[in-house]
Amino acid sequence: VTHPYRLLAPGPVPMPPEVLAVMGTPIWHHRTPAFEKVLGDCYAGLKEVFQTTQPVLVLTSTGSGAMEAAITNTLSPGDSVFCVVGGKFGERWADMCKRYDVSTHIFEVEWGKAIDLSAYEAALKQAGPVKAVLSQVCETSTATLFPVSKMAAIAKKLYPETLFMADAITAIGVTELAMDKDNIDIVVAGSQKAFMIPTGLSFIAMSNAAWKAQKESKIKKYYFDLALEKKALETKQTYFSSSVQMIRALAAALPRMTGNNQAQLLNRTARLMKATHAGAKQIGLKIYSESPSPSVTAILLDSSVNSEKVRDELETQFNVTIMGGQDRLKGKILRIGHLGYIKNDDLLFLLEKMSVVLNKHGAKISEQQIAAALKACEAELGTDVK
Ligand SMILES: Cc1ncc(COP(=O)(O)O)c(C=O)c1O
Repeated sequence: VTHPYRLLAPGPVPMPPEVLAVMGTPIWHHRTPAFEKVLGDCYAGLKEVFQTTQPVLVLTSTGSGAMEAAITNTLSPGDSVFCVVGGKFGERWADMCKRYDVSTHIFEVEWGKAIDLSAYEAALKQAGPVKAVLSQVCETSTATLFPVSKMAAIAKKLYPETLFMADAITAIGVTELAMDKDNIDIVVAGSQKAFMIPTGLSFIAMSNAAWKAQKESKIKKYYFDLALEKKALETKQTYFSSSVQMIRALAAALPRMTGNNQAQLLNRTARLMKATHAGAKQIGLKIYSESPSPSVTAILLDSSVNSEKVRDELETQFNVTIMGGQDRLKGKILRIGHLGYIKNDDLLFLLEKMSVVLNKHGAKISEQQIAAALKACEAELGTDVK
Protein backbone atom coordinates (compact mmCIF):
# COMPACT_ATOMS: atom_id res chain seq x y z
CA VAL A 1 0.00 0.00 0.00
CA THR A 2 1.29 3.49 -0.73
CA HIS A 3 0.23 5.86 1.98
CA PRO A 4 -0.12 9.59 1.29
CA TYR A 5 2.78 11.62 2.63
CA ARG A 6 2.21 12.99 6.12
CA LEU A 7 4.48 15.56 7.76
CA LEU A 8 4.24 15.99 11.54
CA ALA A 9 7.56 17.64 12.29
CA PRO A 10 8.06 20.83 14.30
CA GLY A 11 8.81 22.59 11.00
CA PRO A 12 8.64 22.55 8.08
CA VAL A 13 4.97 21.76 8.26
CA PRO A 14 2.18 20.83 5.85
CA MET A 15 0.72 23.73 3.89
CA PRO A 16 -2.97 24.53 3.39
CA PRO A 17 -4.45 24.33 -0.13
CA GLU A 18 -4.52 28.10 -0.69
CA VAL A 19 -0.77 28.28 0.00
CA LEU A 20 -0.02 25.38 -2.35
CA ALA A 21 -2.09 27.09 -5.04
CA VAL A 22 -0.22 30.41 -4.79
CA MET A 23 3.18 28.72 -4.82
CA GLY A 24 2.40 27.26 -8.25
CA THR A 25 1.42 30.52 -9.98
CA PRO A 26 3.69 32.61 -12.27
CA ILE A 27 6.08 34.93 -10.47
CA TRP A 28 5.53 38.71 -10.28
CA HIS A 29 8.14 41.44 -10.10
CA HIS A 30 8.60 42.82 -6.62
CA ARG A 31 8.59 46.51 -7.56
CA THR A 32 4.98 46.54 -8.77
CA PRO A 33 1.82 47.98 -7.22
CA ALA A 34 0.21 44.52 -7.11
CA PHE A 35 3.08 43.12 -5.04
CA GLU A 36 3.27 46.21 -2.83
CA LYS A 37 -0.38 45.67 -1.98
CA VAL A 38 0.35 42.06 -0.97
CA LEU A 39 3.34 43.12 1.10
CA GLY A 40 1.26 45.82 2.80
CA ASP A 41 -1.35 43.21 3.71
CA CYS A 42 1.39 40.98 5.14
CA TYR A 43 2.81 43.83 7.24
CA ALA A 44 -0.66 44.45 8.69
CA GLY A 45 -1.33 40.76 9.36
CA LEU A 46 2.07 40.21 10.96
CA LYS A 47 1.44 43.01 13.47
CA GLU A 48 -1.71 41.23 14.49
CA VAL A 49 0.10 37.93 14.89
CA PHE A 50 2.90 39.53 16.92
CA GLN A 51 0.32 41.63 18.82
CA THR A 52 2.36 44.75 18.43
CA THR A 53 2.03 48.27 17.06
CA GLN A 54 5.66 48.09 15.91
CA PRO A 55 6.56 47.22 12.33
CA VAL A 56 7.30 43.53 11.77
CA LEU A 57 10.14 43.20 9.28
CA VAL A 58 10.26 40.42 6.73
CA LEU A 59 13.76 39.07 6.05
CA THR A 60 14.81 36.59 3.41
CA SER A 61 16.53 34.03 5.63
CA THR A 62 15.63 31.17 7.89
CA GLY A 63 14.74 31.93 11.51
CA SER A 64 18.40 31.85 12.57
CA GLY A 65 18.98 34.92 10.37
CA ALA A 66 16.49 36.91 12.44
CA MET A 67 18.10 35.61 15.65
CA GLU A 68 21.45 36.89 14.40
CA ALA A 69 19.91 40.20 13.27
CA ALA A 70 18.53 40.72 16.78
CA ILE A 71 22.08 40.52 18.15
CA THR A 72 23.92 42.44 15.45
CA ASN A 73 21.41 45.28 15.46
CA THR A 74 21.17 46.00 19.16
CA LEU A 75 24.42 44.90 20.82
CA SER A 76 28.04 46.00 20.74
CA PRO A 77 31.23 44.04 21.34
CA GLY A 78 31.85 43.93 25.09
CA ASP A 79 28.19 44.15 26.08
CA SER A 80 26.97 41.60 28.62
CA VAL A 81 23.93 39.44 28.01
CA PHE A 82 22.11 36.73 29.92
CA CYS A 83 21.17 33.69 27.85
CA VAL A 84 18.67 31.08 28.92
CA VAL A 85 19.95 27.77 27.59
CA GLY A 86 17.67 24.76 27.89
CA GLY A 87 18.42 23.01 24.61
CA LYS A 88 19.95 23.30 21.15
CA PHE A 89 18.37 26.62 20.19
CA GLY A 90 19.36 28.31 23.43
CA GLU A 91 22.90 27.10 22.72
CA ARG A 92 22.68 28.60 19.24
CA TRP A 93 21.75 32.07 20.46
CA ALA A 94 24.47 32.00 23.10
CA ASP A 95 27.03 30.87 20.48
CA MET A 96 26.02 33.72 18.22
CA CYS A 97 26.56 36.22 21.06
CA LYS A 98 30.02 34.81 21.74
CA ARG A 99 30.89 35.01 18.05
CA TYR A 100 30.19 38.75 18.17
CA ASP A 101 32.37 39.21 21.28
CA VAL A 102 29.42 39.78 23.55
CA SER A 103 30.08 38.65 27.10
CA THR A 104 27.60 35.86 27.74
CA HIS A 105 26.19 34.69 31.07
CA ILE A 106 24.58 31.30 30.60
CA PHE A 107 21.56 30.34 32.68
CA GLU A 108 21.40 26.63 32.19
CA VAL A 109 18.03 24.91 32.39
CA GLU A 110 18.13 21.15 32.60
CA TRP A 111 16.78 19.81 29.29
CA GLY A 112 13.05 19.23 29.43
CA LYS A 113 12.65 20.87 32.84
CA ALA A 114 10.44 23.85 33.60
CA ILE A 115 12.18 27.10 34.48
CA ASP A 116 12.50 27.78 38.18
CA LEU A 117 11.70 31.50 38.21
CA SER A 118 13.35 32.18 41.56
CA ALA A 119 16.56 30.50 40.38
CA TYR A 120 16.34 32.56 37.19
CA GLU A 121 15.90 35.77 39.18
CA ALA A 122 18.80 34.92 41.50
CA ALA A 123 21.10 34.14 38.57
CA LEU A 124 20.11 37.34 36.81
CA LYS A 125 20.85 39.33 39.98
CA GLN A 126 24.21 37.69 40.24
CA ALA A 127 25.04 38.44 36.61
CA GLY A 128 24.48 42.14 37.29
CA PRO A 129 22.95 44.65 34.87
CA VAL A 130 22.98 43.11 31.40
CA LYS A 131 22.22 44.73 28.09
CA ALA A 132 19.86 41.93 27.13
CA VAL A 133 18.20 38.72 28.23
CA LEU A 134 17.75 36.12 25.50
CA SER A 135 15.41 33.15 25.63
CA GLN A 136 13.38 30.79 23.52
CA VAL A 137 9.63 30.84 24.05
CA CYS A 138 9.45 27.20 23.03
CA GLU A 139 12.77 25.32 23.13
CA THR A 140 11.93 23.06 20.19
CA SER A 141 14.74 20.57 20.82
CA THR A 142 13.12 19.52 24.11
CA ALA A 143 9.52 20.60 23.29
CA THR A 144 9.54 22.81 26.38
CA LEU A 145 7.63 26.04 26.88
CA PHE A 146 9.28 28.85 28.86
CA PRO A 147 7.16 31.47 30.71
CA VAL A 148 8.64 34.44 28.86
CA SER A 149 6.12 37.05 29.98
CA LYS A 150 7.07 36.37 33.61
CA MET A 151 10.75 36.15 32.71
CA ALA A 152 10.59 39.51 30.92
CA ALA A 153 8.81 41.08 33.90
CA ILE A 154 11.51 39.85 36.29
CA ALA A 155 14.27 41.12 34.00
CA LYS A 156 12.64 44.56 33.73
CA LYS A 157 12.07 44.75 37.47
CA LEU A 158 15.76 44.14 38.13
CA TYR A 159 17.13 46.13 35.23
CA PRO A 160 14.60 48.43 33.57
CA GLU A 161 16.97 49.16 30.67
CA THR A 162 17.50 45.51 29.77
CA LEU A 163 16.17 44.35 26.41
CA PHE A 164 14.25 41.09 26.51
CA MET A 165 14.70 39.09 23.30
CA ALA A 166 12.40 36.19 22.55
CA ASP A 167 12.99 33.49 19.97
CA ALA A 168 9.34 32.75 19.24
CA ILE A 169 10.10 30.63 16.18
CA THR A 170 7.92 27.72 17.33
CA ALA A 171 5.62 29.78 19.57
CA ILE A 172 4.26 32.80 17.74
CA GLY A 173 0.69 32.30 16.57
CA VAL A 174 0.12 29.23 18.74
CA THR A 175 0.81 30.53 22.25
CA GLU A 176 -0.51 33.51 24.21
CA LEU A 177 2.62 35.54 23.42
CA ALA A 178 1.72 39.22 22.92
CA MET A 179 4.79 41.34 22.25
CA ASP A 180 3.56 44.73 23.51
CA LYS A 181 1.50 43.53 26.47
CA ASP A 182 4.24 41.13 27.59
CA ASN A 183 6.84 43.89 27.38
CA ILE A 184 9.10 41.96 25.02
CA ASP A 185 11.63 44.05 23.13
CA ILE A 186 12.50 41.73 20.30
CA VAL A 187 10.46 38.88 18.89
CA VAL A 188 11.76 36.66 16.10
CA ALA A 189 9.83 34.12 14.06
CA GLY A 190 10.23 31.83 11.04
CA SER A 191 7.99 31.04 8.10
CA GLN A 192 8.07 27.23 8.19
CA LYS A 193 6.30 27.00 11.55
CA ALA A 194 2.87 28.39 12.49
CA PHE A 195 2.84 30.45 9.27
CA MET A 196 2.37 27.23 7.27
CA ILE A 197 4.58 28.24 4.33
CA PRO A 198 8.00 26.90 3.27
CA THR A 199 11.28 27.63 5.05
CA GLY A 200 12.98 30.84 3.91
CA LEU A 201 11.44 33.92 5.49
CA SER A 202 12.07 35.21 8.98
CA PHE A 203 10.30 37.95 10.87
CA ILE A 204 11.49 40.36 13.52
CA ALA A 205 9.82 43.14 15.49
CA MET A 206 11.48 45.52 17.95
CA SER A 207 10.27 47.84 20.70
CA ASN A 208 11.17 51.56 20.86
CA ALA A 209 13.93 50.71 23.32
CA ALA A 210 15.35 48.12 20.91
CA TRP A 211 15.19 50.59 18.01
CA LYS A 212 17.08 53.08 20.17
CA ALA A 213 19.70 50.40 20.82
CA GLN A 214 19.79 49.78 17.07
CA LYS A 215 21.09 53.30 16.54
CA GLU A 216 23.84 52.82 19.14
CA SER A 217 24.89 49.27 18.27
CA LYS A 218 28.52 48.94 17.16
CA ILE A 219 28.44 45.49 15.61
CA LYS A 220 28.99 45.86 11.86
CA LYS A 221 26.11 44.78 9.65
CA TYR A 222 25.20 44.92 6.01
CA TYR A 223 22.50 42.52 4.79
CA PHE A 224 20.67 42.60 8.09
CA ASP A 225 20.72 46.35 8.71
CA LEU A 226 17.25 46.60 10.17
CA ALA A 227 17.12 50.40 9.95
CA LEU A 228 17.24 50.06 6.16
CA GLU A 229 14.55 47.38 6.21
CA LYS A 230 12.33 49.53 8.38
CA LYS A 231 12.68 52.43 5.99
CA ALA A 232 11.80 50.20 3.03
CA LEU A 233 8.79 48.87 4.89
CA GLU A 234 7.36 52.36 5.17
CA THR A 235 6.94 52.36 1.37
CA LYS A 236 5.69 48.74 1.32
CA GLN A 237 8.96 47.34 0.04
CA THR A 238 11.77 45.18 1.29
CA TYR A 239 15.26 46.69 1.10
CA PHE A 240 16.70 43.93 -1.09
CA SER A 241 14.76 41.92 -3.72
CA SER A 242 11.63 40.45 -2.17
CA SER A 243 11.06 36.74 -2.00
CA VAL A 244 7.89 37.27 -4.01
CA GLN A 245 6.37 33.79 -4.03
CA MET A 246 7.02 33.26 -0.33
CA ILE A 247 5.49 36.60 0.55
CA ARG A 248 2.45 35.86 -1.60
CA ALA A 249 2.19 32.50 0.16
CA LEU A 250 2.39 34.34 3.48
CA ALA A 251 -0.45 36.62 2.42
CA ALA A 252 -2.51 33.54 1.57
CA ALA A 253 -1.79 31.92 4.95
CA LEU A 254 -2.17 34.93 7.25
CA PRO A 255 -6.00 34.89 7.27
CA ARG A 256 -5.67 31.58 9.15
CA MET A 257 -3.72 33.39 11.89
CA THR A 258 -5.60 36.67 12.21
CA GLY A 259 -9.06 38.02 13.09
CA ASN A 260 -11.34 35.36 14.56
CA ASN A 261 -8.97 32.69 13.34
CA GLN A 262 -6.27 33.85 15.75
CA ALA A 263 -8.03 32.27 18.74
CA GLN A 264 -9.06 29.31 16.65
CA LEU A 265 -5.49 28.50 15.67
CA LEU A 266 -4.44 28.65 19.31
CA ASN A 267 -7.27 26.33 20.22
CA ARG A 268 -6.60 23.91 17.37
CA THR A 269 -2.92 23.66 18.23
CA ALA A 270 -3.70 23.05 21.90
CA ARG A 271 -6.12 20.33 20.85
CA LEU A 272 -3.48 18.61 18.73
CA MET A 273 -1.15 18.68 21.72
CA LYS A 274 -3.76 17.36 24.14
CA ALA A 275 -4.82 14.68 21.67
CA THR A 276 -1.21 13.56 21.29
CA HIS A 277 -0.72 13.44 25.06
CA ALA A 278 -4.01 11.55 25.57
CA GLY A 279 -3.18 9.00 22.87
CA ALA A 280 0.40 8.56 24.08
CA LYS A 281 -0.80 7.91 27.61
CA GLN A 282 -3.11 5.10 26.48
CA ILE A 283 -0.26 3.28 24.76
CA GLY A 284 1.99 3.71 27.78
CA LEU A 285 4.29 6.43 26.45
CA LYS A 286 5.86 9.15 28.51
CA ILE A 287 5.86 12.88 27.74
CA TYR A 288 9.46 14.10 28.01
CA SER A 289 8.98 17.73 28.98
CA GLU A 290 7.88 18.98 32.37
CA SER A 291 6.48 22.10 30.69
CA PRO A 292 5.10 20.85 27.37
CA SER A 293 4.72 23.23 24.45
CA PRO A 294 1.54 23.35 22.35
CA SER A 295 3.64 23.43 19.17
CA VAL A 296 5.52 20.15 19.57
CA THR A 297 5.41 17.10 21.83
CA ALA A 298 8.48 15.09 22.78
CA ILE A 299 7.94 11.46 23.76
CA LEU A 300 10.58 9.71 25.82
CA LEU A 301 11.02 6.10 24.74
CA ASP A 302 12.14 3.17 26.79
CA SER A 303 15.94 3.09 26.90
CA SER A 304 15.93 -0.25 25.03
CA VAL A 305 14.44 1.39 21.92
CA ASN A 306 16.37 3.62 19.52
CA SER A 307 14.03 6.44 18.52
CA GLU A 308 16.00 7.03 15.30
CA LYS A 309 15.00 3.55 14.12
CA VAL A 310 11.37 4.17 15.00
CA ARG A 311 11.44 7.46 13.13
CA ASP A 312 13.08 5.88 10.05
CA GLU A 313 10.62 3.00 9.96
CA LEU A 314 7.64 5.31 10.23
CA GLU A 315 9.01 7.14 7.21
CA THR A 316 10.00 4.20 5.03
CA GLN A 317 7.04 1.95 5.83
CA PHE A 318 4.24 4.44 6.40
CA ASN A 319 5.37 7.62 4.63
CA VAL A 320 5.03 9.75 7.75
CA THR A 321 7.78 12.06 8.96
CA ILE A 322 8.30 12.99 12.59
CA MET A 323 11.54 14.04 14.27
CA GLY A 324 13.88 12.34 16.67
CA GLY A 325 16.07 13.95 19.31
CA GLN A 326 19.16 16.08 18.82
CA ASP A 327 22.52 15.84 20.51
CA ARG A 328 22.21 14.15 23.93
CA LEU A 329 18.58 13.25 23.16
CA LYS A 330 19.47 11.51 19.89
CA GLY A 331 17.93 8.04 19.84
CA LYS A 332 15.93 8.76 22.99
CA ILE A 333 12.95 10.88 22.05
CA LEU A 334 10.44 11.29 19.25
CA ARG A 335 9.14 14.77 18.46
CA ILE A 336 5.69 15.23 16.96
CA GLY A 337 4.84 18.66 15.54
CA HIS A 338 1.47 20.31 15.98
CA LEU A 339 2.02 23.22 13.61
CA GLY A 340 0.68 23.68 10.11
CA TYR A 341 -2.14 22.16 8.16
CA ILE A 342 -2.51 18.92 10.13
CA LYS A 343 -5.71 16.93 9.69
CA ASN A 344 -7.19 14.78 12.45
CA ASP A 345 -6.51 11.71 10.37
CA ASP A 346 -2.79 12.55 10.17
CA LEU A 347 -2.41 12.34 13.93
CA LEU A 348 -4.61 9.26 14.31
CA PHE A 349 -2.65 7.49 11.56
CA LEU A 350 0.63 8.41 13.23
CA LEU A 351 -0.45 7.13 16.65
CA GLU A 352 -1.61 3.83 15.22
CA LYS A 353 1.49 3.26 13.11
CA MET A 354 3.76 4.36 15.92
CA SER A 355 2.24 1.59 18.04
CA VAL A 356 2.84 -0.92 15.25
CA VAL A 357 6.49 0.11 14.90
CA LEU A 358 7.08 0.22 18.66
CA ASN A 359 5.67 -3.30 18.97
CA LYS A 360 8.25 -4.47 16.41
CA HIS A 361 10.86 -3.04 18.78
CA GLY A 362 9.61 -5.05 21.73
CA ALA A 363 6.79 -2.91 23.12
CA LYS A 364 3.65 -4.79 24.09
CA ILE A 365 0.89 -2.43 23.06
CA SER A 366 -2.36 -4.41 22.77
CA GLU A 367 -5.08 -3.94 20.16
CA GLN A 368 -7.33 -2.66 22.95
CA GLN A 369 -4.76 -0.08 23.97
CA ILE A 370 -4.42 1.14 20.39
CA ALA A 371 -8.20 1.43 20.09
CA ALA A 372 -8.38 3.30 23.40
CA ALA A 373 -5.55 5.61 22.27
CA LEU A 374 -7.32 6.47 19.04
CA LYS A 375 -10.56 7.07 20.90
CA ALA A 376 -8.90 9.33 23.48
CA CYS A 377 -7.08 11.18 20.73
CA GLU A 378 -10.23 11.67 18.68
CA ALA A 379 -12.15 12.98 21.69
CA GLU A 380 -9.58 15.74 22.20
CA LEU A 381 -9.29 16.61 18.51
CA GLY A 382 -12.86 17.67 17.89
CA THR A 383 -13.81 19.20 14.54
CA ASP A 384 -11.27 18.77 11.77
CA VAL A 385 -9.42 21.69 10.23
CA LYS A 386 -10.91 23.07 6.99
C1 LIG B 1 13.14 27.61 18.72
C2 LIG B 1 13.89 27.64 17.43
N1 LIG B 1 14.84 28.55 17.25
C3 LIG B 1 15.54 28.62 16.13
C4 LIG B 1 15.33 27.74 15.09
C5 LIG B 1 16.14 27.86 13.86
O1 LIG B 1 15.36 28.24 12.79
P1 LIG B 1 15.85 28.02 11.29
O2 LIG B 1 16.09 26.55 11.14
O3 LIG B 1 14.66 28.50 10.50
O4 LIG B 1 17.04 28.84 11.08
C6 LIG B 1 14.36 26.76 15.22
C7 LIG B 1 14.13 25.78 14.15
O5 LIG B 1 13.50 24.77 14.31
C8 LIG B 1 13.61 26.70 16.42
O6 LIG B 1 12.66 25.78 16.58
